[in-house]
Amino acid sequence: LRCLVLAGGLSYERDVSLRSGRRVLDALRAVGVEADMLDADVSLLPSLKADPPDAVFIALHGSTGEDGSLRGVLDLCGVPYVGPDARSARLAWDKPSAKAVLVECGIPTPEWVALPHDRFSELGAVAVLDRIVDRLGLPLMVKPAQGGSGLGAAVVRDAAALPAAMVGCFAYDQTALVERYVEGVDVAVSILDLGEGPFALPPVEIVPSNGVYDYAARYTAGLTTWHAPARLSAETGAAVVKTALAAHQALGLRDLSRVDLIVTPAGECTVLEVNVSPGMTETSLLPLAVHAGGLDLGDVIARLVTRAAA
Ligand code: DAL
Ligand code: MG
Repeated sequence: LRCLVLAGGLSYERDVSLRSGRRVLDALRAVGVEADMLDADVSLLPSLKADPPDAVFIALHGSTGEDGSLRGVLDLCGVPYVGPDARSARLAWDKPSAKAVLVECGIPTPEWVALPHDRFSELGAVAVLDRIVDRLGLPLMVKPAQGGSGLGAAVVRDAAALPAAMVGCFAYDQTALVERYVEGVDVAVSILDLGEGPFALPPVEIVPSNGVYDYAARYTAGLTTWHAPARLSAETGAAVVKTALAAHQALGLRDLSRVDLIVTPAGECTVLEVNVSPGMTETSLLPLAVHAGGLDLGDVIARLVTRAAA
């Protein structure tokens, strides 16, 4: 079995992806799987043709890696890969589309407005922002409709801070997702399918030291504390797992995903997003959950790769 780990690429999350890729590579080699890592650039197609691997592990984050385009290329080349197919990845990656599907399936997600940049020039920025605050109230969460790692995202507690948040967001995407901000605890549920159907690993509770789980809090050792399993009552923990599994299935995902949720003080949970290429870095959540679930990361990835190659 020979696995090609794809990492890097040109998205805003390139650095994160290189860290994920190295961790996946080390984990596979530690369990005796032959694996190489390739930066996903123009050398990809010639390399797949010259030396096709048995399966690819996509450690790319952001556009290309998560939006389905790379998966489409791999489909075209007949190279199997771990994780959701192109269509499902594209759906999960576009937050407004994914949220619409979740709502349709009865899965809670914060109320939102998707705002293409062009609406500002059509209607005027003040009118657009006033309308959003009227509709959703405060605080708000502003984030790129397509993006990851907290890049371009901001919590807006005061309407006066909304314009700056929008500018920060449009630096990363043409469309902003503005959500009602739900106060509560950040929890991530990693889903795996090792051949017997999807199951949830223990939920991980995220406690960023400055209160916001931004890019720095995600990838700087010491800035975030985790509790795995999350400190939830048995009843709430079960509800969180049930919701996460429902979200994974509603979006038609396979093999692995990570569902990010908020659990309110009343014990209700709401889905923020579902990641089809979860971070695999030293400070990422899926590897923590694997460990909390009593599994070995290399063993889990090797099983996913073996299944993809079969
Ligand atoms: N987008 C980052 C890699 C994550 O979701 O883990
Ligand atoms: Mg994400």
